[in-house]
Amino acid sequence: MDENNLVKMTLTVNGEEVSMMAKGGRRLLDFLRDDLHLTGSKEGCGEGECGSCTVLLDGHSVLSCLTPMERAIGRSVVTIEGVGSPTNLHPVQAALLDEGGVQCGMCTPGMVISAIDLLQRNPDPTVEEIIEGISGNLCRCTGYKKIIFGIQHAAEELRSSGRTGMVKEATR
Ligand code: FES
Ligand code: FES
Repeated sequence: MDENNLVKMTLTVNGEEVSMMAKGGRRLLDFLRDDLHLTGSKEGCGEGECGSCTVLLDGHSVLSCLTPMERAIGRSVVTIEGVGSPTNLHPVQAALLDEGGVQCGMCTPGMVISAIDLLQRNPDPTVEEIIEGISGNLCRCTGYKKIIFGIQHAAEELRSSGRTGMVKEATR
């Protein structure tokens, strides 16, 4: 960091190299939303309690509201924008939509990222393992059942097509 509090952020975001000077000492969530305009990651609580800010850092889910931006230097970040697009949904996104697991949508980006993290590690999770996998993600709308069904169906879809939950190979 220089005397103006600028830091060189060199990292990969959603598969693209990023190299820029940015105001340091902030949260990864702020860097993603304010500097890179990736506003899919939401700020719910800002205190590590809701999971709506979840992103993948080197393939593992982290809470971007609790992660200093400098921790991402030299590493790979995947946000919901790197997971799928409206015309090319990741199977987890498609299954949540199909099952009615998306209502207000506030929790959805973080929920999808946590589900992908789970399915990458465990392609055939039990209901209990799904509940554990999304235990850090709060949803005020759906009662969770539809989300759990959606993740089960996404897991089935990924297994039957011989894919894993990996972001790049899973989008359809
Ligand atoms: S905004 Fe990060 S956990 Fe709630
Ligand atoms: S869909 Fe509204 S918080 Fe989950």
